[in-house]
Amino acid sequence: MNTSIRTVSSTFASVLVLSVALTATFGASAETIALIGTGNVAGALGPEFAMQGHDIVYGSRNPDRAEVRELVARTGGNAFATGQAEAAAQADIVVIAVPGDVAEQVVASLGDLSGKIIIDPTNRVGPGDDGFMMHTVATSNAELIQALAPEAYVVKAFNTLNYRTMIDPELSGGPVTIPLVGNNAEAKATVAALVEGMGLESIDLGPVRFAHVLEGMLVIWINGRSAGTPYDYHLRPQPQ
Ligand SMILES: NC(=O)c1ccc[n+]([C@@H]2O[C@H](COP(=O)([O-])OP(=O)(O)OC[C@H]3O[C@@H](n4cnc5c(N)ncnc54)[C@H](OP(=O)(O)O)[C@@H]3O)[C@@H](O)[C@H]2O)c1
Repeated sequence: MNTSIRTVSSTFASVLVLSVALTATFGASAETIALIGTGNVAGALGPEFAMQGHDIVYGSRNPDRAEVRELVARTGGNAFATGQAEAAAQADIVVIAVPGDVAEQVVASLGDLSGKIIIDPTNRVGPGDDGFMMHTVATSNAELIQALAPEAYVVKAFNTLNYRTMIDPELSGGPVTIPLVGNNAEAKATVAALVEGMGLESIDLGPVRFAHVLEGMLVIWINGRSAGTPYDYHLRPQPQ
C-alpha cells in the first residue's frame, strides 16, 4: 500500500472509531421514531424529537386528514404520515401515543416489534365511585405491552405530565422529572437522551414491573389538578 493511501485509511479508521465511541457514549445517532397516534402527545413529542435530528413518521388511522398534514408540516424535516402498522415497521423506536384503553389493541395490530424500543406514555384511568380518578388496569399498560411484544424493549415514559409541559418545560416554573421504567438499560438510556434533549430531567426507577407506580403517579397528579392544586414531579437526586 502506498504511504498516502495508508495515511488516509488510518485517518479514516480513527475518525470511524471516534464517531462510534461518541455514538456509544451519547446515543447521538439519528433514529427513525414512529409516533402512533396524532393527538396531543404525538403532536408534542414528534416535533421535539425532530428538533433533536431524528426522522419522524406518524402512524394514523387516517394519515390524509388535514390535521395530520398540518402536524407533518409543523414537524418539518423529512416527517411523513402513514398507517399505524406501516409507521411502526419502519421505525427503531415506536411511541404508543393512543388512548390508554386501546393501547393493547393498537400494539397487537402493529406487527412484529422485536428489537425495537417501545415508549409507552399511556394512562388508563377512569372515575371511581367517590369521584376520584383511579387506575383501571390490574397491572399496568406497560407490562401488558411488554407481554404482547416480548422481544421489544418497553420503556414507560412521559405519562406523568401534561403535553404542554413536554413542549415548554418552563411552564412548570422549575425542573421537571420524567420517571422511566423498563427492563433494558440501553433502551432506558436512549429514552433518557430524548428526555434530556427536551429540557426535562430523567430518572431510572427500575424494571417494567414498577410501571404501575408511574401510572399511579399520574392518577394522583390528575386528582391534584381536579382539586385545583396542580403540580409537576421533580425528583431531586441527593448529594453524593
Ligand atoms: N394529553 C396529555 O397531556 C397526556 C400526557 C401524558 C400522557 N398522556 C397519555 O398519552 C396517550 C395519548 O394521549 P393524547 O392526549 O395524545 O390523546 P389524543 O389527543 O386523544 O390522541 C390519541 C391519538 O390516538 C389515535 N387513536 C384514537 N383512538 C384510537 C383507536 N381506537 N385506535 C387507534 N388509534 C386511535 C388518534 O390518532 P389518529 O386519529 O391519527 O389515528 C388520536 O389522535 C393517552 O394514553 C394519554 O393518557 C396524555
